[in-house]
Amino acid sequence: TKGITILAIESSCDETSASVCKDGAILSNFIANQTVHEKYGGVVPELASRAHMQNIVPVIDTALKEANTSLAEVDAIAFTQAPGLIGSLLVGSQFAKSMALALNKPLIAVHHMQAHVLANLIEDPKPSFPFLCLTVSGGHTQIVLARSATDLEVIGETIDDAAGEAFDKTAKLIGLPYPGGPLVDKYAKEGNPHRFKFAEPQIEGLNFSFSGLKTSVLYFLQKEIKANPAFVEENLADICASVQYTIINILLKKLKRAAIETGIQDLCIAGGVSANSGLRTALKELGEKYGWRTHIPSFQYCTDNAGMIAITAYHKYLAGAFADLSVTASARAEW
Ligand code: KG4
Ligand code: ZN
Repeated sequence: TKGITILAIESSCDETSASVCKDGAILSNFIANQTVHEKYGGVVPELASRAHMQNIVPVIDTALKEANTSLAEVDAIAFTQAPGLIGSLLVGSQFAKSMALALNKPLIAVHHMQAHVLANLIEDPKPSFPFLCLTVSGGHTQIVLARSATDLEVIGETIDDAAGEAFDKTAKLIGLPYPGGPLVDKYAKEGNPHRFKFAEPQIEGLNFSFSGLKTSVLYFLQKEIKANPAFVEENLADICASVQYTIINILLKKLKRAAIETGIQDLCIAGGVSANSGLRTALKELGEKYGWRTHIPSFQYCTDNAGMIAITAYHKYLAGAFADLSVTASARAEW
């Protein structure tokens, strides 16, 4: 039998990525990172769109080559439809639509946040349904209840900043370049997570809040720097470890609560912040303590990547959930 081969494109933010998936197995997941944004302290949307324009053909070409797959073998073209930067999304979506039209192949539109969750279905051992997923990225913080690959419900989310923003904004206060999350992770490894205490929000239910942490870190640093101008340099590792510890605590308290409330014992994490080594370790420990199964995608499937778009599209293909050529990219999206 021939099987189902999908070519997927991801271009929602500042990574241009393409992936080939055959019968649910990822054959390639090529990611081109954009470096033009570093000096601006954040992603510049216009520059991101232009870089996607330059990258998209070679990225797709590379993904097909790495998968040893020709366009003729592809059964469907998938793309990230929403949410994200509209200019970035438009590059990937228009390209995918053009390909589908030119090749006369079906089109599959994928929700970026659902794809982050379903990245957990790429590698073994896969979670069994229903499972819970803590999705933590630069723009989102959600707890998702996945009943099936096509039935996902958000049961908790942030009311202000995302977890990635909490990392990046506190990193900026500490004087680290953007994006600060990975650097906080790196310095935290050498530090004492219990050295400094930061306020944890009291938010009801399964929702999150991170804006108070940022303020708490700001006031703390102002006070300490007044007393000792070299405070940050001298205590960098302990500050990073303590901030990271607080963020992880806020996140896992709610995930634990969701697991207890729903009785679900398969816990996953997803999104860029799930690359955080402290969070990965803490989730594993939580699972061991309560006897829950925990799942963490490998790094390449945590940050933005087309592999997660491809696996989501594979399940949409099986469910017959195709898009027509009138579909448009959207910065914001209903779930
Ligand atoms: O999912 P993602 O790649 O992009 C979207 O926002 O969709 O997530 C990016 C976020 C950034 O805030 C970045 O600082 C954070 O993920 N991040 C990390 C780590 N790696 C990436 N945060 C903490 N520790 C890390 N190792
Ligand atoms: Zn993302």
